[in-house]
Amino acid sequence: MSAAADRAAELRAELREHNERYYIKDDPSIGDDQYDALLDELRAIERDNPELVTADSPTQRVGAEPVSALEKVTHPQAMFSLANARSPEEFDAWVLRMRNHLAREGIDDAAFRYVCEPKVDGLAISIVYREGLLERGATRGNGEVGEDVTHNLRTIPAVPLSIDDAPAMIEIRGEVYMSLEGFQSLNERRASEGKPTFMNPRNAAAGTLRQLDPRLAAERPLSLWAYGVGACEGISFDSQWETLEWLRERGFPVNSDIERLDSEQQAVERCLEWQQRRGSLSFEIDGVVIKVDDAEQQRRLGVVGRDPRWAVAWKFPPTTKITELKQIEWSVGKFGDLHPFAVLEPVEVGGVVVQHATLHNEEDLARKDVRPGDEVIILRAGDVIPQVVSPAPHAAERKGRGGPVKAPNKCPVCSTATLKPENSVFTKCPNRDCAGRREALLTHFVSRGAMDVDGLGEKLVVMLLEKGLIENAADLYGLEIAQLAELDGMGELSARAIIDSLEASKARPFASVLFALGIEGVGEVTGRSLAQRLRTIDALLAADVDAISQTPGVGPIVGELITTQLADPQMRKLIAALQAAGLQFEQEGPPPGEGPLADKTFVLTGTLPTLTREQASEKILAAGGRVTTSVSKKTDYLVAGEAAGSKLEKAERLEVTVLGEAELLQLLGQDAEA
Ligand code: IVH
Repeated sequence: MSAAADRAAELRAELREHNERYYIKDDPSIGDDQYDALLDELRAIERDNPELVTADSPTQRVGAEPVSALEKVTHPQAMFSLANARSPEEFDAWVLRMRNHLAREGIDDAAFRYVCEPKVDGLAISIVYREGLLERGATRGNGEVGEDVTHNLRTIPAVPLSIDDAPAMIEIRGEVYMSLEGFQSLNERRASEGKPTFMNPRNAAAGTLRQLDPRLAAERPLSLWAYGVGACEGISFDSQWETLEWLRERGFPVNSDIERLDSEQQAVERCLEWQQRRGSLSFEIDGVVIKVDDAEQQRRLGVVGRDPRWAVAWKFPPTTKITELKQIEWSVGKFGDLHPFAVLEPVEVGGVVVQHATLHNEEDLARKDVRPGDEVIILRAGDVIPQVVSPAPHAAERKGRGGPVKAPNKCPVCSTATLKPENSVFTKCPNRDCAGRREALLTHFVSRGAMDVDGLGEKLVVMLLEKGLIENAADLYGLEIAQLAELDGMGELSARAIIDSLEASKARPFASVLFALGIEGVGEVTGRSLAQRLRTIDALLAADVDAISQTPGVGPIVGELITTQLADPQMRKLIAALQAAGLQFEQEGPPPGEGPLADKTFVLTGTLPTLTREQASEKILAAGGRVTTSVSKKTDYLVAGEAAGSKLEKAERLEVTVLGEAELLQLLGQDAEA
């Protein structure tokens, strides 16, 4: 082999490893620049020596020309669907069906082990590897015949182009999906380019995978979870668990929260846990798939119709419903922005009665073009606010009255003439003393991520404003128990509790105070960056546009916006009053990258003996450490308390150091006794 061929092979192996570390293991060891440099070197060699280009070279992901149509593909093995279970009773019925079936085969009292997998809401696909090389990928279609989407699958970084140590032929099954973050940024990009947005990540993934031009797919954030093997030659598996391990070892992304369980009770518990966690995952799931682990049992159980008897989909309650949109109304946001929302014929969605649903903003409203009287689709997923998705069944057959609904030209609260600033998606009420605006600002101030004043919510804020007890945020800190106790539905006890939480909120960190102030352009994350970089309110107020614009995530336009608001006399007055009330206007702890725990990543789980998780997390942050929510190879320490669950198991599997509270305090130099 020539020196060029050697080097090309070396580069390919290296790039493949880095790709896997980045996309599959979530544990990169080099930066993007270094990766790009290696890729450029390989491109140069291949350009000078075209005969050296291989089908699985990382340079060939977007190599293919657009196809003229999606070809039909017959799957080597039919792709099944799944029977559903929606409750523990239906789950038990499934287990009973399996036992009865095996009993008829002469196997009594069968015991099962189960593998519990998230049911990712994307698109089922089949990818055939022949002699280790990706040959063809196809959508599920009707289960027998799908569509050839090889050109697009090749662009997905999480899909290996080749596998080592491979059998003659193997068909990988999995779900192509788009992460929520990817979906959101794709939609934002499309909206800013004046293109229609996608309704949900699933539609975005489906639309992308069916594109004819692979360059389009390459630009969109698709990913893969592998969950099974279809047809294969020259290999067999004894269990689902072993299959998943094999896939993981060959570089396929297999979700690390998948578990093997020994009992029905554990399986049901896990389903309920996934249901709880649903809203906090980085991708959408619509259920949990429970599979019998043992391959021999699977074989004996077989298939009924299109559903394998050995697997079941635990489906979460549906998150969409159809109901009548009665009216479109507008609420005033904390910056005077008018938000359209739907008043609905009350309907139960996912176990909650919904009467109002957001329509986000005018563009969204114009795009959906829903009108009073229309039947509309309501979506309520996870913990997010219910939203109107679209008219149902279709706008052409609508019952709705009148033309498209437009933003009002007078503020619905204070009747001031509204205006629509350039570059803004919102029509605004320009009146800074608008009661609606003030209400929104104060409700934001006391909310969870901001000052976190327990017991003080929108209803009470409105009452306080109406009674004239407060005008701005600083007035909250001058309230007295007697004043609160007199309000409707309040008493001495609840009044005292609120005064206590107001007092406690004075300890909220500088970053939260900045966020609470309600400065346009300063969200939770920017609040934290500003606090970390500028460290004191004096430095922040003295900072020029440049200094503010250089804060991560800010930039010149938002920098200008923030600076202008900070210079406003009313804002300065509010800040001074809050300082006088005793709120934190200085960043505690060492600057980023300093402190005893600098660059160390922690995850917290379970109940600690004395500290709440929030307190522990504040201590870690104050010492320069980072706190994240899920265990990965990048985690340095897992702090585990009582009843730690799957995170502990995962940490042990990944050999992450596990600490108790006492050990954490020791690490912080704050032994419990001290
Ligand atoms: S197994 C047993 N596992 O759910 C063979 N399917 O209704 C059936 N899905 O079309 C597939 N995550 O799109 C399986 N971990 C998972 C899954 C999963 C999502 C989807 C897949 C399939 C549908 C079955």
